[in-house]
Amino acid sequence: MTATVPSQRSAGGLPLEPIEHASTDVLRALQLERLQAQLTLAWEKVPHYRTKFEAAGVHPGDLRTLEDLSRFPFTTKEDLRSNYPFGMFAVPREQVVRIHASSGTTGKPTVVGYTAADVDTWARLVARSIRASGARAGDIVHVSYGYGLFTGGLGAHYGAEKLGLTVVPFGGGQTERQVQLIRDFGASIIMVTPSYMLAIADEFERQGIDPASSSLRIGIFGAEPWTNEMRTEIERRMGIDAVDIYGLSEVMGPGVANECIETKDGPTIWEDHFFPEIINPDTGAPLPDGEFGELVFTSLTKEALPIIRYRTRDLTRLLPGTARTMRRMQKITGRSDDMMIVRGVNVFPSQIEELILQRPELAPHYVCELGKDGPLDTLTVRVESKPGLAHDGAAASQSARALQHAIKTFIGVSADIRVEPTSAIERSVGKARRVIDKRPKPGAVS
Ligand code: DLL
Repeated sequence: MTATVPSQRSAGGLPLEPIEHASTDVLRALQLERLQAQLTLAWEKVPHYRTKFEAAGVHPGDLRTLEDLSRFPFTTKEDLRSNYPFGMFAVPREQVVRIHASSGTTGKPTVVGYTAADVDTWARLVARSIRASGARAGDIVHVSYGYGLFTGGLGAHYGAEKLGLTVVPFGGGQTERQVQLIRDFGASIIMVTPSYMLAIADEFERQGIDPASSSLRIGIFGAEPWTNEMRTEIERRMGIDAVDIYGLSEVMGPGVANECIETKDGPTIWEDHFFPEIINPDTGAPLPDGEFGELVFTSLTKEALPIIRYRTRDLTRLLPGTARTMRRMQKITGRSDDMMIVRGVNVFPSQIEELILQRPELAPHYVCELGKDGPLDTLTVRVESKPGLAHDGAAASQSARALQHAIKTFIGVSADIRVEPTSAIERSVGKARRVIDKRPKPGAVS
């Protein structure tokens, strides 16, 4: 019997980079070397890091093994906000060739910067991600992630170009035209949020076209949580392979991790550039691989914005490599800030999504509304009926009762279900908003 040698080509037949099939020993040695350099850069060039390291009594020289990283302090969105706009940069502003920023619902936006080398690394990692998603030479990539300060559009764009593919830089919105151009140009890959993919699928159908008959072969979906049930639904309706791309602007943008099409078992983390940890979100203590907790990233190769132990708020666990030697993360189904606490029970929108998708009468367009009935929390799930099915008919109300029962049984909360007609739930062209909290804020005078 011969030992399993990791494949040196992607599922689409493109050659992998040597590090993608290197041994774990080679990878760990590279990570240690890069981590030492990245901590030194942060210490030497970013006063905020130096102050925090000193307060924690650590010095970059203290990192002798990868485990020593846990002695270093965490970085949060608050650190970036309090150094707004450019205070976390490790290079003079003149060397920063690109800025992105997150809007942020409260307070100042989070600003991130890239040197020319950072933009190049990012493009290479998105190219690697698109290749892992099954791209073949000659593919046409339709990008529907938003362009602008959001990292989705430009991140996807540079990566697809780097891979040598033909890019259609559409951006978000104008759904009718999206459908027209996908058809006219014959795009084979689409990069878009999963929720906006559903809106595009609806538009195909509105135009009387079966979306599964389109030229699309692969969808690379991310920027928001989506369940495996949603994957099955999108794959069925669109007749494509749906692959998960993960990333966040503070760490780089899309392409921090990406699923491999041959396994579709959670995004492979590009560990030669980002070192992942899982911590207990309450105590900050590191957790072993396989245990659930909050995902934390340290960049290994960034120039403009080295990021040390960044707390993502994303909840997942680390899993061993399969299609690649690098570790995977379980598909993220929630963020700690999306978690609803309903009468003391923790509920994620993704748990509701899974149950909605089990009901053939319901469409996967939904929103969870939180309110108050006297002192008690209330949860209302607004969900659309399948197109062509009366939202107030017998089948829909029977389905609402079944969903209510399933939510009570599997999640443990009582919910009101409102089945609404097609298009009643606001469509987003980017990240879907799944929770609307209408409860009075603590301390607010009503
Ligand atoms: O959403 C970057 C991105 C663009 C990723 C396009 C993938 C595709 P931010 O706006 O900074 O960056 O938001 C980052 O989005 O912490 C997660 O909570 C969530 N997120 C991103 N990708 C996924 C995914 C971009 N595949 C935040 N699954 C992250 C679940 C995701 N959540």
